[in-house]
Amino acid sequence: MKILTTIEAIQNYATSCKTQGKTIALVPTMGALHEGHLTLMRAARKKCDIVIASVFVNPTQFGPNEDYDAYPRQFEADCEKLESVAVDAVFHPEPTEMYPEGYCTYVNVEGDITHKLCGAQRPGHFRGVATVVTKLINLSRADEAFFGQKDAQQVTVIRRFVEDLNINVHINMVPIAREENGLARSSRNSYLSTEEKNAALVLSRSLKQAKAAFSQGETEVTALENIVRQELGKEPLAHIDYVKAYAYPSLKPLKQVNEDTLLAIAVKIGKTRLIDNVILSA
Ligand code: PAF
Repeated sequence: MKILTTIEAIQNYATSCKTQGKTIALVPTMGALHEGHLTLMRAARKKCDIVIASVFVNPTQFGPNEDYDAYPRQFEADCEKLESVAVDAVFHPEPTEMYPEGYCTYVNVEGDITHKLCGAQRPGHFRGVATVVTKLINLSRADEAFFGQKDAQQVTVIRRFVEDLNINVHINMVPIAREENGLARSSRNSYLSTEEKNAALVLSRSLKQAKAAFSQGETEVTALENIVRQELGKEPLAHIDYVKAYAYPSLKPLKQVNEDTLLAIAVKIGKTRLIDNVILSA
């Protein structure tokens, strides 16, 4: 597996792949790789000749009081995992390579889709995501890019700017990878103590209950949100940031589940903020 750390190196690599007529898949990550990321890599491997992963903890998507400094960094272990799923190249730049002195250009997706859910809780977050993902797609000359459903709002935002800016890439959303006990896989799970990890199971459990109620005929959005809130309320270590349902992928408000609907939650377990969701298919 090639390790690329400079803009010049990834540009040269992508150009040489394209010259040979190869298709390129990009899987952007912030490292601390787990089975969820590897699921994305495998999906990418199936679809394209070349798979480029990026491992970059992107400073512009973290707020001043968020976990940028604490975010787990374990590049050597990440490389072993990437090699195990036959990734061709990993792009691992320094922050100054991506944002050198004088850098001042950002991709800002305006409007409703960035102002709710995680966008409301984390001002500036999606501006940082949109900026770095634009740069990564551009640098890698990707035909296909892969993201997880756990960040379903992120996928909507990325699809929006890809369409608006006429970027020639197809965005793939891969279902959430879960541990056997239901916990959605996340690099931030590594912050949880054993007790907190146990408590965190309430996220998937609450969504499962809402999904079951929906299968049994409950279509009122407020009722479904309340089922989730009630279950989360039973866990003393859980503090709700939001429990919200929106039409998916538009993220428009709705009263009844009469089109595909994202039921999304963000919950703090101790100091760790976790997200999870389910898509209810109408
Ligand atoms: O989902 C993530 O890990 C990040 O937001 C991404 C897409 C790698 C951009 O930094």
